[in-house]
Amino acid sequence: MNAGIRIRFEGHGEFDAAIGDSILDVALRNDVDLDHACGAVCACSTCHVKIDTGADALSEASEDEEDQLDTARGVTLASRLGCQARIERVPSDGVIAVSIPAWNVNLVQEGH
Ligand code: FES
Repeated sequence: MNAGIRIRFEGHGEFDAAIGDSILDVALRNDVDLDHACGAVCACSTCHVKIDTGADALSEASEDEEDQLDTARGVTLASRLGCQARIERVPSDGVIAVSIPAWNVNLVQEGH
């Protein structure tokens, strides 16, 4: 059910999301390039994203997710795995803002 939640992928646009969606679910539904090499089972770190605002609306990171994130490049305190971070409640301002690290985008585009 859509409770008026939106996810904004910086540089890609803003999209509807619902309780229970993962960040990866919303990206894939809207053709936002977000890599997911292991098929969303928390066994890689290619779906690494940074949550700029609205992190309070997401599920807590599990120990497995934290372990995977330890192997990701450019990890910060705002880092999550897009396939593991699920929306659990409506964010305070209705929007969850997400950045996809530049190196990840480059990986998808296989450019430089
Ligand atoms: S797709 Fe592999 S950990 Fe998210």
